[in-house]
Amino acid sequence: MSTLSTNNISDLVEHAVVFADAAAETIRKRRAELGNVKLRESSQTKSSEVDPVTLVDLESEKLIRSLIAEYRPDDFILGEEGGLSRADGVRVAEGSIRRRLSDGDALEWVVDPIDGTVNFLYGLPVFAVSIAVRSNSETIAGAVADVPGHRVFFAGKGLGAKVRDATGEIKDIHASAPENLAQSLVATGFSYDAAMRSQQGAVVAKLLGKCRDIRRLGSAAMDLCLVAQGSIDAYYERGIKVWDYAAGCLIAQEAGAVIRELEPNSIYPSSSGAIAAARTVSDEFESILSDVGVLAD
Ligand code: IPD
Ligand code: CA
Repeated sequence: MSTLSTNNISDLVEHAVVFADAAAETIRKRRAELGNVKLRESSQTKSSEVDPVTLVDLESEKLIRSLIAEYRPDDFILGEEGGLSRADGVRVAEGSIRRRLSDGDALEWVVDPIDGTVNFLYGLPVFAVSIAVRSNSETIAGAVADVPGHRVFFAGKGLGAKVRDATGEIKDIHASAPENLAQSLVATGFSYDAAMRSQQGAVVAKLLGKCRDIRRLGSAAMDLCLVAQGSIDAYYERGIKVWDYAAGCLIAQEAGAVIRELEPNSIYPSSSGAIAAARTVSDEFESILSDVGVLAD
């Protein structure tokens, strides 16, 4: 558990919210300026031909990095697009960064500049900016800006979870309490790797008969915030990265959901993941996920 005081954590949360908000504003403005055609022209691919990165993903991460550098230049940033570096850009060997992070004497900002890039590219209104702050691998502050929804979800370790809605009103949020999994709405997502997607489809086919229904919204960060506010009862996904889930997991946990980060295992050797579920169904959900092979080793 982090030794940072509540004041420190609140300050980190406030800054994460301001930074996520600033990036969301830029993303909305740039999407309107570029329109569909220029946005597509600006897009390249990463891990596979269906894994896009647009000019706006890069601009959003650059902005967030500069804001963090101004606030806490000695911290480290792990960004989806730019990798791991010192906030102020001074070159430090990765091994020495990892050592300082595991000694717990530096904070790591984990940034997804646009989570839900495919939705962003297609003009579908589910994408987010996700910023987490981790101390010794534990997430202590997080903010997720729902860009089209003009909302920001946020939480600090031990401080509860909140949303600031489009009118500026701030409210506490709480996970749902369904009676059982059969009545639960479950969200998940699929990998950019075609072979893994087929395997994930087979798992979903087994799960569909055991829950109310399944949603694939296209942003892990938003899935987790929707668990936090009780609009989805449970979420799981293999193949996501820490920048997809770090902030959202803290927000869901602080809202009362049970969360679990999944390490790669022998069945999923290169794929981490996360589970978040309403407390009333989390045991049942984990046992079913185990039966359908998501947790099995
Ligand atoms: C993706 C989204 C999606 C999830 C993928 C992620 P990106 O992130 O979170 O919901 O299913 O696994 O990679 O690529 O849009 O930042
Ligand atoms: Ca992402």
